[in-house]
Amino acid sequence: MTSPLLVALDVRRAEEAVRLARLLAGKVAGFKVGLGLLHGPGPGVVGAVARLGPVFADAKLHDIPSQVQAAARRLGEYGARWVTAHASGGVEMLRAAAAGLEAGAGGRAAGILAVTVLTSIDEAAAGALFGRSPGELTSRLARRAAEAEVEGVICSPKELRVVAEVAPGLLRVTPGIRAAGTAAHDQRRISTPTEAVARGADLLVVGRPIIESPDPVAAVERLHAELAGR
Ligand code: C5P
Repeated sequence: MTSPLLVALDVRRAEEAVRLARLLAGKVAGFKVGLGLLHGPGPGVVGAVARLGPVFADAKLHDIPSQVQAAARRLGEYGARWVTAHASGGVEMLRAAAAGLEAGAGGRAAGILAVTVLTSIDEAAAGALFGRSPGELTSRLARRAAEAEVEGVICSPKELRVVAEVAPGLLRVTPGIRAAGTAAHDQRRISTPTEAVARGADLLVVGRPIIESPDPVAAVERLHAELAGR
């Protein structure tokens, strides 16, 4: 089985991120470098981890197109395989992000993942902020992502079906994954890996259940076994 797991390296220090990536290299689909690392040790972490596997730079870009293009280009130069940008920045911004990343990647495979609705935005927050449900917002934003022809969409496990309907050609990446019967942490709308794949997820972002495990390799193997129905 090819692993669908992207391991969120949500740690403070670059050395710790590289240590975890080294441990899990070749066993998972890639590694997520998030805002804490990008703004702390800096984007050099992307380069260090990219030597060990595909990197998903979760920069969540959202600015005018020229700024987003410049940032995505830099992340591509550091070796990012995927870069995230908020779909709410609009089609032109998403296209600029993709153009920047492609230029930075210089011929390597690289693509933008459009963030739809953060999983921390629940029904009440979505209503208060935008007057719509998370599902309706996700549907609108995923349509824009498809129009911009980005590589994929990030969405909660609960919104996988709506994304598959409105943006069938795009890669579906989902956080909020917990093995049956394990700690939910601050994840609200969670799903087991098997459920998420059954709903159409292509890649699963998993952090704490792996990186906080005393044995991250065993944690990955347990998730793979669960996915294989063992
Ligand atoms: O919860 P876990 O540690 O598996 O989180 C992995 C990734 O999922 C985080 O890096 C974050 O991007 C995302 N996440 C989320 N919503 C939360 C918590 C985490 O989308 N409430």
